[in-house]
Amino acid sequence: MKTHKVLISKTRIQSRVKQMARKISSDYRGKELVLVGVLRGSFVFMADLLREISIPVEVDFIAVASYGNSTRTGGVVRLNQDLSSTITGRHVILVEDIVDSGLTLSYLLNNLKTRRPASIDVCTLLDKKDRRRARVPVKYKGFNIPDKFVVGYGLDYKQRYRNLPYISWIEEE
Ligand code: IMP
Ligand code: MG
Repeated sequence: MKTHKVLISKTRIQSRVKQMARKISSDYRGKELVLVGVLRGSFVFMADLLREISIPVEVDFIAVASYGNSTRTGGVVRLNQDLSSTITGRHVILVEDIVDSGLTLSYLLNNLKTRRPASIDVCTLLDKKDRRRARVPVKYKGFNIPDKFVVGYGLDYKQRYRNLPYISWIEEE
């Protein structure tokens, strides 16, 4: 396993995250906004996004298991840790590191919708469109990326590389 060159630099991430936060701040002005981060991959993106949001906002997290230790999804999604707060009647944005097959988000959207939020939308840093298997509406998107396994900025391979300040890609040898 090898780490390759930078796919998306720290600077590009920072300026895109700022733009996304500005859009969210204007779209949700006057509304009760809760950002729900999907653990663990989204925590770095969430921390940066949150600090660029200029309206009142709350944060919660939900944990799912989908990939195990492989680079391909098993298609099985399990809820590992639920929200701490109630989202009924509130405006929710699900914050993801990456949408790949879409199975995780599709499961989460169905699950969270049963709790009757005022609205629920998706914000993801990365989108691997070519691999989509479940239809998920993505309202805020950082970057489209090709079908490569990427790491860094919260994303892992076997729990490693989350600390890289940029998005990089690895290839199996
Ligand atoms: P999906 O259910 O196939 O859309 O997968 C979503 C989850 O798989 C993401 O939240 C990531 O945690 C993980 N994932 C998908 N692609 C990658 C990748 O290229 N690198 C690291 N994690 C990934
Ligand atoms: Mg994830």
